[in-house]
Amino acid sequence: MIRIYKEKDYEAMSRRAANVIAAEIIRKPDCVLGLATGTSPLGLYSELATLNAEGRVDFAGVTTYNLDEYYPIDPANDQSYRYFMNKNLFNNVNVDMDKTHVLFGQAPDWKAECAQYDAEIEALGGIDLQLLGIGVDGHIGFNEPAEVLDPLTHLTDLTEDTIRANSRFFESEADVPRHALTMGIGSILSARRIMLIATGEAKAKAIATVLSGKLTTACPASMLNLHSDVTILCDRAAVSLCDEATIAALS
Ligand code: GLP
Repeated sequence: MIRIYKEKDYEAMSRRAANVIAAEIIRKPDCVLGLATGTSPLGLYSELATLNAEGRVDFAGVTTYNLDEYYPIDPANDQSYRYFMNKNLFNNVNVDMDKTHVLFGQAPDWKAECAQYDAEIEALGGIDLQLLGIGVDGHIGFNEPAEVLDPLTHLTDLTEDTIRANSRFFESEADVPRHALTMGIGSILSARRIMLIATGEAKAKAIATVLSGKLTTACPASMLNLHSDVTILCDRAAVSLCDEATIAALS
């Protein structure tokens, strides 16, 4: 079941999303969080750092697993998702670095890396709250639109659209890695709760497809309709292609 909450802008959405994560940590101080990269979570990560600095949320017992990582990439590269997470969240809160996990972009054996990632998450009892952004083409993590989708953590090829979209962070399009390691759709759906954040008109088509309630591998995020506890937090632009009645029914 999907619920959607429309906030007036990015700041309001980020505050609300940070409060959801903070509430989860307060409810379960040793919770396992699934985390995401991209520009969408930047505001909420900075809100969480503020809440942590004010002593309102304590990350000491929290374990984190990130959705995805480019492959191959050196974790020290400033475009790696490990670097992103350290810079934008982990270095700014009192999380135990040993409890933060990002798929290793230089794993010599990617299959073993993926299998170990899934096994570790399972051994910990699964992810309590999974944060997601959404790609313009409806991808979640790096699960791109395709004829078939992978259930578990795997190596994937990035689509031309994603390479183009993500090239804004690199010096040139040629520098964007062509592959990534990503949790699969099944790994994502195994989380107890899921929160997806989306802002801006570019996401409106993908969000409308998700809210249609149908499943299609052409929009991997539509698979979230299989889950019993999904919250979408968005701004007005991200739901500009959805009618008010649909939004009201899901709020
Ligand atoms: C990347 C990430 C996704 C993210 C998406 C959207 O491709 N792998 O996890 O959700 O981009 O990014 P943004 O939030 O910058 O729009």
